[in-house]
Amino acid sequence: MKEQIDQVRAQFLQDFQQLSDARAVEQFRIKFLGKNGLVTGLFKQLGQVDKAERPAVGKMLNELRREVEELIRQSKEQFGAAKKESTIDLTLPGRQPAYGGKHPLSVVREEAKQIFAKLGFTVADGPEVETDYYNFEALNIPRLHPARNMQDTLYITEDLVLRTHTSPVQIRTMLRQKPPVRIIAPGRVYRRDTPDASHSPVFHQVEGLCVDEGVSMADLKAVLSVFVREMFGKEFKVRFRPSYFPFTEPSAEMDLWWESSRGGRWLELLGCGMVHPNVLSEVGIDPEKYTGWAFGVGIDRLAMLKYAIDDIRLFFENDMRFLEQFS
Ligand code: DAH
Repeated sequence: MKEQIDQVRAQFLQDFQQLSDARAVEQFRIKFLGKNGLVTGLFKQLGQVDKAERPAVGKMLNELRREVEELIRQSKEQFGAAKKESTIDLTLPGRQPAYGGKHPLSVVREEAKQIFAKLGFTVADGPEVETDYYNFEALNIPRLHPARNMQDTLYITEDLVLRTHTSPVQIRTMLRQKPPVRIIAPGRVYRRDTPDASHSPVFHQVEGLCVDEGVSMADLKAVLSVFVREMFGKEFKVRFRPSYFPFTEPSAEMDLWWESSRGGRWLELLGCGMVHPNVLSEVGIDPEKYTGWAFGVGIDRLAMLKYAIDDIRLFFENDMRFLEQFS
């Protein structure tokens, strides 16, 4: 046994001289300490050694193993370090960090906020998962009202929906704050729509609400005309067309006269109207004393016009080739 130990020792001292890289060190380790390694093999024979000699032989084997381990440790230090040095190429150019940019919808949303801030409007907020009451009922759209058809959405429960418009923020605001009220509410909304060039089941709106004594439709027209001029950077011919929304009376849609290379045409931009007396009463504001107007405009729609984008789906695909054009 003693002879064998000396043999193995001679062997690894010799092999150790040949070690030249980290891979060879690993092979060296396997050869001696692996499952079928030479040192391991000697340990396996220990059971056959005479009982009286076993402690002494065991001690020698342990010593032998320590020596191999120490050699491996030294070699790893040497070749491991060498390897690290060689993989760093200090002459390579640095990585260019990508510049972040604002999403076009964020650009338009922030511009809208700024324009309305100058007109004295503050920003209000509401949840995207909304109660049936705020999204429909309180806005004068009872459960079986046909107007619900156009705004079908995902019902989380009987009473919770993904909000179909930003109009529920009108209700939340008026419950908190008595007139004068002048707010806008930008945010994400949802509808059960099949995606195509002009529809997306997720889109964005800015709601506007102004409630005070003596507020009239003339104020609404003036504010919206200023908004359009500021947003698009020029004066537009606008027209108001009678329309219908359950929460306004009278209701209107505002169109822009849009000139392009193909000629001019009226483009539908937003819905608006005078806040329905039922809505004011619902939130405890006296409709005999106060009047108000409101509007809801699609942010995606504004961005499409502003940047001549012809497909709403582009906003949601996160294609860098598209997004980079806005940063
Ligand atoms: N909430 C309406 C929609 O999404 C848009 C709208 C119309 C909002 C008239 C208003 C309004 O505030 O007065 O179709």
